[in-house]
Amino acid sequence: MFKRTKSVSQRRKAMAAANRVLVYGGKGALGSACVHYFKSKGWWVASIDVVANEEANANVLVKLCESFTDQASQVTSDVATLLGEHKVDAIVCVAGGWAGGNCSSKDLYKNSDMMWKQSVWTSTISSHLASLHMKPGGLLTLSGAKASLEGTPGMVGYGMAKAAVHQLCKSLAGENSGLPSGAVAVAILPVTLDTPMNRKFMPDADFGSWTPLEYIAETFYSWATGSGRPASGSLIQLVTTGGKTEASAVHAKAASVLVVVARQQREMTTTLILGTNEKHEDICDRRGKQTRVGREIGRRGILEKEIQQENKLEG
Ligand SMILES: NC(=O)c1ccc[n+]([C@@H]2O[C@H](COP(=O)([O-])OP(=O)(O)OC[C@H]3O[C@@H](n4cnc5c(N)ncnc54)[C@H](O)[C@@H]3O)[C@@H](O)[C@H]2O)c1
Repeated sequence: MFKRTKSVSQRRKAMAAANRVLVYGGKGALGSACVHYFKSKGWWVASIDVVANEEANANVLVKLCESFTDQASQVTSDVATLLGEHKVDAIVCVAGGWAGGNCSSKDLYKNSDMMWKQSVWTSTISSHLASLHMKPGGLLTLSGAKASLEGTPGMVGYGMAKAAVHQLCKSLAGENSGLPSGAVAVAILPVTLDTPMNRKFMPDADFGSWTPLEYIAETFYSWATGSGRPASGSLIQLVTTGGKTEASAVHAKAASVLVVVARQQREMTTTLILGTNEKHEDICDRRGKQTRVGREIGRRGILEKEIQQENKLEG
């Protein structure tokens, strides 16, 4: 079901004129900050959440249920009805949540289930909405977590769900991912956000190490308008120290390149490239110069400058 917060004519006028963004989780702490920020820039904003955000131009209300396909169908259908032929410039998915617990916890199953619903369901639906309703060159952001780059023994369900979001982000950057042409998918990986809930439950924490919501909303807006936009598939860590936030991309661990020189024949090399399926002759020519494929691999940060070439051909 979607809720109109303005008259039909007001709503149509706003939709026709402005840039448009969908904020999934638009009633949460970060979601509300995003709704507010994009609206302050004159964008038409729709919130998708279980509770309406009255500041948004429109709301799609999600019915909580136990079936992913039911929830996904409901949201997909309601967004299609709301947007009609209009395309959006960006989809910002900031739905999610947190639950702790290791694998001995009596709440392990319940919490893992909830984490999956809040983060993976919403991210998956967002990716499909992007394929249907986003303009070419649009922006999709997902919400991961820096903690999920490693094991998270004390918060198993959360760690798994956020790791899945990271994986989805990388898949969306691949060829034929289903996103509109030129569209970019980026995941933010916060540590701790400066939210009212966190302040309530951790009153003695160092707030200077928490990332301000406005910083993220402003960053999303910059990316949505094409400024400083990271490459598609980027996982952007947000680390705040002394009140200053740095956003930096997590690079795929540079694959070691092991060149094994086979000496059976002059000018014959065999290359074993750990972490990629490319053969030596695909990434560099006989002089050791990178080919187009090699440059592409380098651009993706897989090999970076770590390509070690051994040209110890038997003389
Ligand atoms: N708060 C933090 O310190 C922190 C740290 C790391 C990552 N994150 C992630 O950043 C994002 C934003 O965090 P936040 O603190 O603003 O979260 P929040 O809990 O304040 O807001 C999340 C919103 O998502 C909505 N939501 C949950 N499941 C939904 C569903 N199935 N359909 C529609 N809406 C749904 C909730 O109703 C809520 O409004 C989340 O993904 C969170 O996991 C937060």
